Amino acid sequence: FANGLGLTPQMGWNSWNHFQCDINEAVVRRTADALVATGLAKAGYKYVNLDDCWADYQRTKEGYMIANPKTFPSGIKALADYVHSKGLKLGIYSSAGTRTCSNRMPGSLGHEDKDAKTFASWGVDYLKYDNCYRDGTPETVRFGRMSRALKNSGRPIFYSLCEWGYMEVPKWGGMYGNSWRTTGDIIDTWSGMLDNIDRNDAYARYAKPGGWNDPDMLEVGNGGMAYNEYVVHFSLWAIAKFKCSVLSTHARGKSSLIDSSSCVPIVFGADRMGVQGNKVKKYGNDLEVWAGQLSRHRKAVLLLNRGATRSASITAAWPDVGIRRGVTVEARDVWKHETLPGRFTGSLTAVVGPHSCKLFVLTPVPR
Ligand code: GLA
Repeated sequence: FANGLGLTPQMGWNSWNHFQCDINEAVVRRTADALVATGLAKAGYKYVNLDDCWADYQRTKEGYMIANPKTFPSGIKALADYVHSKGLKLGIYSSAGTRTCSNRMPGSLGHEDKDAKTFASWGVDYLKYDNCYRDGTPETVRFGRMSRALKNSGRPIFYSLCEWGYMEVPKWGGMYGNSWRTTGDIIDTWSGMLDNIDRNDAYARYAKPGGWNDPDMLEVGNGGMAYNEYVVHFSLWAIAKFKCSVLSTHARGKSSLIDSSSCVPIVFGADRMGVQGNKVKKYGNDLEVWAGQLSRHRKAVLLLNRGATRSASITAAWPDVGIRRGVTVEARDVWKHETLPGRFTGSLTAVVGPHSCKLFVLTPVPR
Protein backbone atom coordinates (compact mmCIF):
# COMPACT_ATOMS: atom_id res chain seq x y z
CA PHE A 1 0.00 0.00 0.00
CA ALA A 2 2.37 2.63 -1.29
CA ASN A 3 1.11 5.85 0.24
CA GLY A 4 4.55 6.72 1.59
CA LEU A 5 3.35 6.49 5.21
CA GLY A 6 4.17 4.13 8.04
CA LEU A 7 7.86 3.75 7.23
CA THR A 8 8.14 3.31 10.98
CA PRO A 9 5.13 2.05 12.99
CA GLN A 10 2.56 4.55 14.14
CA MET A 11 3.01 6.10 17.56
CA GLY A 12 0.61 8.28 19.41
CA TRP A 13 -2.52 8.29 21.50
CA ASN A 14 -5.93 6.72 20.91
CA SER A 15 -9.02 7.42 22.96
CA TRP A 16 -10.53 3.93 23.21
CA ASN A 17 -8.81 1.85 25.90
CA HIS A 18 -9.15 4.57 28.50
CA PHE A 19 -12.20 6.63 27.54
CA GLN A 20 -14.33 4.33 25.38
CA CYS A 21 -17.28 6.49 24.26
CA ASP A 22 -16.75 9.18 26.86
CA ILE A 23 -14.78 11.52 24.60
CA ASN A 24 -15.14 15.15 23.60
CA GLU A 25 -13.08 17.83 21.91
CA ALA A 26 -11.72 19.21 25.20
CA VAL A 27 -10.22 15.83 26.11
CA VAL A 28 -8.60 15.55 22.70
CA ARG A 29 -7.17 19.07 22.86
CA ARG A 30 -5.81 18.49 26.36
CA THR A 31 -4.23 15.28 25.19
CA ALA A 32 -2.52 17.04 22.29
CA ASP A 33 -1.20 19.64 24.76
CA ALA A 34 0.03 16.89 27.08
CA LEU A 35 1.84 15.02 24.29
CA VAL A 36 3.82 18.18 23.65
CA ALA A 37 4.32 19.16 27.32
CA THR A 38 5.59 15.72 28.38
CA GLY A 39 8.07 15.50 25.52
CA LEU A 40 6.29 12.48 24.07
CA ALA A 41 5.56 14.33 20.84
CA LYS A 42 9.23 15.06 20.36
CA ALA A 43 9.99 11.40 21.04
CA GLY A 44 7.74 10.45 18.12
CA TYR A 45 4.21 10.19 19.57
CA LYS A 46 2.67 12.21 16.76
CA TYR A 47 -0.82 10.78 16.29
CA VAL A 48 -3.82 11.97 18.27
CA ASN A 49 -6.45 9.43 17.31
CA LEU A 50 -10.18 9.49 17.84
CA ASP A 51 -11.75 6.07 18.18
CA ASP A 52 -15.43 5.13 18.22
CA CYS A 53 -18.23 7.59 19.11
CA TRP A 54 -16.91 10.84 17.64
CA ALA A 55 -19.73 11.16 15.05
CA ASP A 56 -23.39 11.99 15.18
CA TYR A 57 -25.81 9.03 15.39
CA GLN A 58 -26.95 9.29 11.74
CA ARG A 59 -25.65 10.71 8.49
CA THR A 60 -27.02 14.05 7.32
CA LYS A 61 -29.83 14.12 4.74
CA GLU A 62 -27.13 14.52 2.09
CA GLY A 63 -25.43 11.39 3.37
CA TYR A 64 -22.43 12.91 5.15
CA MET A 65 -20.96 11.78 8.43
CA ILE A 66 -20.66 14.70 10.84
CA ALA A 67 -19.18 15.18 14.29
CA ASN A 68 -21.46 14.68 17.29
CA PRO A 69 -22.70 18.25 17.87
CA LYS A 70 -22.85 17.81 21.65
CA THR A 71 -19.35 16.46 22.22
CA PHE A 72 -17.49 17.94 19.22
CA PRO A 73 -19.37 21.23 18.68
CA SER A 74 -16.45 22.86 16.85
CA GLY A 75 -16.28 20.04 14.33
CA ILE A 76 -13.42 17.84 13.21
CA LYS A 77 -11.82 20.38 10.86
CA ALA A 78 -11.27 22.76 13.77
CA LEU A 79 -9.87 19.92 15.87
CA ALA A 80 -7.48 18.93 13.08
CA ASP A 81 -6.34 22.54 12.80
CA TYR A 82 -5.66 22.65 16.52
CA VAL A 83 -3.77 19.35 16.52
CA HIS A 84 -1.74 20.41 13.46
CA SER A 85 -0.87 23.71 15.15
CA LYS A 86 0.88 21.63 17.81
CA GLY A 87 2.91 19.78 15.18
CA LEU A 88 0.79 16.63 15.63
CA LYS A 89 -1.49 14.58 13.40
CA LEU A 90 -5.18 13.76 13.78
CA GLY A 91 -6.64 10.28 13.40
CA ILE A 92 -10.26 9.28 12.97
CA TYR A 93 -12.25 6.06 13.11
CA SER A 94 -14.94 4.24 11.13
CA SER A 95 -16.04 0.70 10.32
CA ALA A 96 -16.24 -1.52 7.24
CA GLY A 97 -19.88 -2.11 8.12
CA THR A 98 -23.16 -0.24 8.36
CA ARG A 99 -22.48 0.90 11.95
CA THR A 100 -19.39 1.07 14.18
CA CYS A 101 -18.93 -1.36 17.07
CA SER A 102 -20.59 0.93 19.64
CA ASN A 103 -23.61 1.26 17.33
CA ARG A 104 -23.57 4.95 18.21
CA MET A 105 -22.49 6.15 14.77
CA PRO A 106 -22.64 5.06 11.12
CA GLY A 107 -20.00 2.90 9.48
CA SER A 108 -18.59 3.57 6.02
CA LEU A 109 -19.75 0.47 4.11
CA GLY A 110 -21.14 1.70 0.79
CA HIS A 111 -19.98 5.27 1.55
CA GLU A 112 -16.25 4.72 1.23
CA ASP A 113 -15.49 7.42 -1.33
CA LYS A 114 -17.66 10.06 0.26
CA ASP A 115 -16.26 9.42 3.73
CA ALA A 116 -12.64 9.27 2.60
CA LYS A 117 -13.07 12.60 0.80
CA THR A 118 -14.80 14.08 3.84
CA PHE A 119 -11.98 12.98 6.15
CA ALA A 120 -9.41 14.37 3.71
CA SER A 121 -11.26 17.69 3.50
CA TRP A 122 -11.11 17.98 7.29
CA GLY A 123 -7.34 17.43 7.25
CA VAL A 124 -7.44 13.98 8.83
CA ASP A 125 -4.12 12.08 8.72
CA TYR A 126 -5.05 8.58 9.87
CA LEU A 127 -8.00 6.19 9.69
CA LYS A 128 -8.63 3.23 11.98
CA TYR A 129 -11.16 1.06 10.17
CA ASP A 130 -13.11 -1.47 12.24
CA ASN A 131 -15.04 -4.62 11.34
CA CYS A 132 -18.50 -4.40 13.00
CA TYR A 133 -21.94 -4.59 11.33
CA ARG A 134 -20.52 -6.21 8.20
CA ASP A 135 -22.61 -7.54 5.34
CA GLY A 136 -21.02 -10.92 4.71
CA THR A 137 -18.59 -9.81 2.01
CA PRO A 138 -14.99 -10.79 2.82
CA GLU A 139 -12.63 -8.49 4.67
CA THR A 140 -10.36 -8.26 1.62
CA VAL A 141 -13.22 -6.66 -0.33
CA ARG A 142 -14.54 -4.29 2.31
CA PHE A 143 -11.13 -3.15 3.58
CA GLY A 144 -9.88 -2.96 -0.01
CA ARG A 145 -12.64 -0.54 -0.98
CA MET A 146 -11.64 1.92 1.71
CA SER A 147 -8.01 1.48 0.72
CA ARG A 148 -8.79 2.68 -2.80
CA ALA A 149 -11.02 5.45 -1.52
CA LEU A 150 -8.24 6.78 0.71
CA LYS A 151 -5.79 6.65 -2.20
CA ASN A 152 -8.24 8.75 -4.25
CA SER A 153 -9.04 11.16 -1.42
CA GLY A 154 -6.35 13.63 -2.34
CA ARG A 155 -4.58 13.38 1.01
CA PRO A 156 -2.05 10.85 2.34
CA ILE A 157 -3.90 9.06 5.16
CA PHE A 158 -2.33 6.34 7.30
CA TYR A 159 -4.65 3.34 7.02
CA SER A 160 -4.96 1.12 10.10
CA LEU A 161 -6.98 -2.05 9.46
CA CYS A 162 -8.88 -3.28 12.51
CA GLU A 163 -10.18 -6.58 11.14
CA TRP A 164 -9.12 -8.56 14.27
CA GLY A 165 -6.79 -10.91 12.41
CA TYR A 166 -9.47 -12.38 10.15
CA MET A 167 -8.62 -14.12 6.85
CA GLU A 168 -4.94 -14.40 7.80
CA VAL A 169 -4.58 -10.68 7.36
CA PRO A 170 -0.77 -10.49 7.60
CA LYS A 171 -0.70 -12.17 4.19
CA TRP A 172 -2.75 -9.46 2.46
CA GLY A 173 -2.88 -6.48 4.82
CA GLY A 174 0.21 -4.91 3.31
CA MET A 175 -1.48 -4.58 -0.08
CA TYR A 176 -4.21 -2.40 1.40
CA GLY A 177 -2.99 -0.68 4.53
CA ASN A 178 -0.16 0.51 6.76
CA SER A 179 -1.01 -1.77 9.69
CA TRP A 180 -3.41 -4.57 10.49
CA ARG A 181 -4.65 -6.08 13.71
CA THR A 182 -3.38 -9.61 14.34
CA THR A 183 -5.66 -10.19 17.35
CA GLY A 184 -8.94 -9.43 19.04
CA ASP A 185 -9.16 -6.57 21.53
CA ILE A 186 -6.45 -6.43 24.16
CA ILE A 187 -7.53 -7.17 27.72
CA ASP A 188 -5.82 -5.16 30.46
CA THR A 189 -4.48 -8.19 32.34
CA TRP A 190 -1.14 -10.01 32.41
CA SER A 191 -2.42 -13.09 30.55
CA GLY A 192 -4.54 -11.06 28.11
CA MET A 193 -1.56 -8.93 27.18
CA LEU A 194 0.73 -11.95 26.68
CA ASP A 195 -1.92 -13.68 24.62
CA ASN A 196 -2.01 -10.79 22.13
CA ILE A 197 1.75 -10.52 21.74
CA ASP A 198 2.13 -14.30 21.32
CA ARG A 199 -0.42 -14.37 18.50
CA ASN A 200 1.23 -11.36 16.89
CA ASP A 201 4.64 -13.03 17.15
CA ALA A 202 3.62 -15.77 14.72
CA TYR A 203 3.49 -13.17 11.93
CA ALA A 204 6.76 -11.34 12.58
CA ARG A 205 8.07 -11.98 9.07
CA TYR A 206 5.23 -10.04 7.44
CA ALA A 207 6.08 -6.72 9.13
CA LYS A 208 8.10 -4.20 7.19
CA PRO A 209 8.39 -0.46 6.60
CA GLY A 210 5.04 0.65 5.24
CA GLY A 211 3.04 -2.26 6.74
CA TRP A 212 2.99 -3.46 10.35
CA ASN A 213 1.46 -6.14 12.53
CA ASP A 214 -0.71 -4.56 15.20
CA PRO A 215 -1.13 -6.52 18.47
CA ASP A 216 -3.58 -3.78 19.59
CA MET A 217 -2.92 -0.70 21.70
CA LEU A 218 -1.12 -0.33 24.97
CA GLU A 219 -3.05 -0.49 28.22
CA VAL A 220 -0.18 1.02 30.22
CA GLY A 221 -1.57 3.19 33.00
CA ASN A 222 -5.15 1.93 32.78
CA GLY A 223 -4.91 0.02 36.04
CA GLY A 224 -5.35 -3.66 35.25
CA MET A 225 -1.70 -4.63 35.69
CA ALA A 226 1.08 -4.03 38.18
CA TYR A 227 3.93 -1.65 37.41
CA ASN A 228 6.43 -4.40 36.50
CA GLU A 229 3.80 -6.03 34.27
CA TYR A 230 3.30 -2.77 32.40
CA VAL A 231 7.06 -2.55 31.94
CA VAL A 232 6.87 -5.98 30.27
CA HIS A 233 3.87 -4.87 28.17
CA PHE A 234 5.69 -1.77 27.00
CA SER A 235 8.95 -3.64 26.32
CA LEU A 236 7.32 -6.44 24.31
CA TRP A 237 5.39 -3.97 22.16
CA ALA A 238 8.60 -2.04 21.58
CA ILE A 239 10.71 -5.03 20.59
CA ALA A 240 7.90 -6.33 18.37
CA LYS A 241 8.20 -3.00 16.53
CA PHE A 242 4.82 -1.87 17.32
CA LYS A 243 6.97 0.72 19.01
CA CYS A 244 5.39 1.83 22.12
CA SER A 245 2.50 1.55 19.74
CA VAL A 246 -0.52 3.61 20.43
CA LEU A 247 -0.72 4.78 23.97
CA SER A 248 -4.32 4.50 24.82
CA THR A 249 -4.02 5.94 28.25
CA HIS A 250 -4.82 9.43 29.24
CA ALA A 251 -1.80 11.37 28.16
CA ARG A 252 -1.65 13.18 31.47
CA GLY A 253 -0.60 9.78 32.61
CA LYS A 254 -1.54 7.87 35.71
CA SER A 255 1.60 5.90 35.26
CA SER A 256 5.10 7.12 35.78
CA LEU A 257 6.07 4.89 32.87
CA ILE A 258 4.64 7.43 30.56
CA ASP A 259 7.02 10.28 30.61
CA SER A 260 9.57 11.16 28.04
CA SER A 261 12.60 10.14 30.06
CA SER A 262 11.46 6.62 30.83
CA CYS A 263 9.85 6.08 27.47
CA VAL A 264 13.03 4.67 26.04
CA PRO A 265 11.84 1.59 24.17
CA ILE A 266 10.52 3.89 21.50
CA VAL A 267 14.02 4.06 20.11
CA PHE A 268 13.25 0.66 18.65
CA GLY A 269 10.11 1.84 16.97
CA ALA A 270 11.84 4.80 15.45
CA ASP A 271 14.62 2.53 14.27
CA ARG A 272 14.90 2.54 10.50
CA MET A 273 15.62 -1.17 10.22
CA GLY A 274 11.94 -2.00 10.53
CA VAL A 275 12.51 -5.60 11.60
CA GLN A 276 9.95 -6.98 14.02
CA GLY A 277 11.74 -8.60 16.95
CA ASN A 278 10.43 -11.99 18.01
CA LYS A 279 10.63 -14.82 20.48
CA VAL A 280 13.85 -16.74 19.82
CA LYS A 281 14.17 -19.12 22.79
CA LYS A 282 12.08 -20.74 25.52
CA TYR A 283 13.35 -22.39 28.69
CA GLY A 284 10.49 -24.45 30.16
CA ASN A 285 7.10 -22.75 30.38
CA ASP A 286 8.07 -19.45 31.90
CA LEU A 287 11.41 -18.16 30.67
CA GLU A 288 11.86 -16.58 27.27
CA VAL A 289 14.37 -14.65 25.18
CA TRP A 290 13.13 -12.19 22.55
CA ALA A 291 15.45 -10.47 20.10
CA GLY A 292 15.31 -7.98 17.26
CA GLN A 293 17.75 -6.45 14.82
CA LEU A 294 18.37 -2.72 15.12
CA SER A 295 20.31 -0.41 12.84
CA ARG A 296 24.10 -0.09 13.19
CA HIS A 297 24.52 -3.82 13.92
CA ARG A 298 22.85 -3.49 17.31
CA LYS A 299 20.44 -6.02 18.81
CA ALA A 300 17.50 -5.48 21.12
CA VAL A 301 17.31 -8.39 23.58
CA LEU A 302 14.54 -8.98 26.09
CA LEU A 303 14.71 -11.55 28.89
CA LEU A 304 11.20 -12.40 30.09
CA ASN A 305 10.09 -14.26 33.20
CA ARG A 306 6.42 -15.16 32.78
CA GLY A 307 6.34 -17.03 36.08
CA ALA A 308 4.44 -15.57 39.01
CA THR A 309 6.55 -16.61 41.96
CA ARG A 310 10.30 -16.94 41.52
CA SER A 311 13.17 -14.87 40.20
CA ALA A 312 15.16 -16.72 37.56
CA SER A 313 18.43 -16.42 35.76
CA ILE A 314 17.92 -16.20 31.99
CA THR A 315 20.62 -16.46 29.33
CA ALA A 316 20.61 -14.93 25.88
CA ALA A 317 23.05 -17.06 23.90
CA TRP A 318 24.51 -15.44 20.78
CA PRO A 319 23.29 -18.12 18.31
CA ASP A 320 19.74 -17.67 19.66
CA VAL A 321 19.71 -13.89 19.36
CA GLY A 322 21.49 -13.91 16.00
CA ILE A 323 24.95 -12.65 16.93
CA ARG A 324 28.04 -14.42 15.59
CA ARG A 325 29.81 -16.51 18.21
CA GLY A 326 33.03 -14.56 18.63
CA VAL A 327 31.44 -11.12 18.74
CA THR A 328 31.90 -8.99 21.88
CA VAL A 329 29.25 -6.47 22.89
CA GLU A 330 28.47 -3.76 25.34
CA ALA A 331 25.05 -4.06 26.96
CA ARG A 332 22.83 -1.14 27.82
CA ASP A 333 19.98 -1.76 30.25
CA VAL A 334 17.20 0.19 28.57
CA TRP A 335 14.98 0.71 31.61
CA LYS A 336 17.82 1.53 34.00
CA HIS A 337 19.40 3.88 31.49
CA GLU A 338 22.82 2.45 32.21
CA THR A 339 25.50 0.45 30.48
CA LEU A 340 26.42 -2.77 32.30
CA PRO A 341 30.00 -2.99 33.58
CA GLY A 342 32.25 -5.18 31.46
CA ARG A 343 31.77 -6.71 28.05
CA PHE A 344 30.07 -9.87 26.88
CA THR A 345 31.16 -12.55 24.43
CA GLY A 346 28.98 -15.56 23.59
CA SER A 347 26.08 -14.83 25.91
CA LEU A 348 24.50 -12.48 28.41
CA THR A 349 22.81 -13.71 31.59
CA ALA A 350 20.67 -11.75 34.02
CA VAL A 351 18.36 -12.46 36.94
CA VAL A 352 14.77 -11.50 36.20
CA GLY A 353 11.99 -11.19 38.79
CA PRO A 354 8.53 -12.80 38.48
CA HIS A 355 6.25 -11.15 35.87
CA SER A 356 9.19 -8.98 34.87
CA CYS A 357 11.65 -8.47 32.08
CA LYS A 358 15.02 -6.96 31.34
CA LEU A 359 15.56 -5.14 28.10
CA PHE A 360 19.03 -4.60 26.64
CA VAL A 361 20.56 -3.04 23.58
CA LEU A 362 23.73 -4.92 22.59
CA THR A 363 26.33 -2.99 20.61
CA PRO A 364 29.31 -4.82 19.09
CA VAL A 365 32.69 -3.46 20.19
CA PRO A 366 36.13 -4.15 18.73
CA ARG A 367 38.07 -6.68 20.80
C1 GLA B 1 -13.58 -2.75 18.31
C2 GLA B 1 -12.10 -2.46 18.13
C3 GLA B 1 -11.59 -1.66 19.32
C4 GLA B 1 -12.39 -0.37 19.45
C5 GLA B 1 -13.86 -0.68 19.56
C6 GLA B 1 -14.71 0.57 19.50
O1 GLA B 1 -13.81 -3.62 19.37
O2 GLA B 1 -11.37 -3.65 17.99
O3 GLA B 1 -10.21 -1.37 19.19
O4 GLA B 1 -12.15 0.44 18.32
O5 GLA B 1 -14.31 -1.54 18.51
O6 GLA B 1 -16.08 0.28 19.62
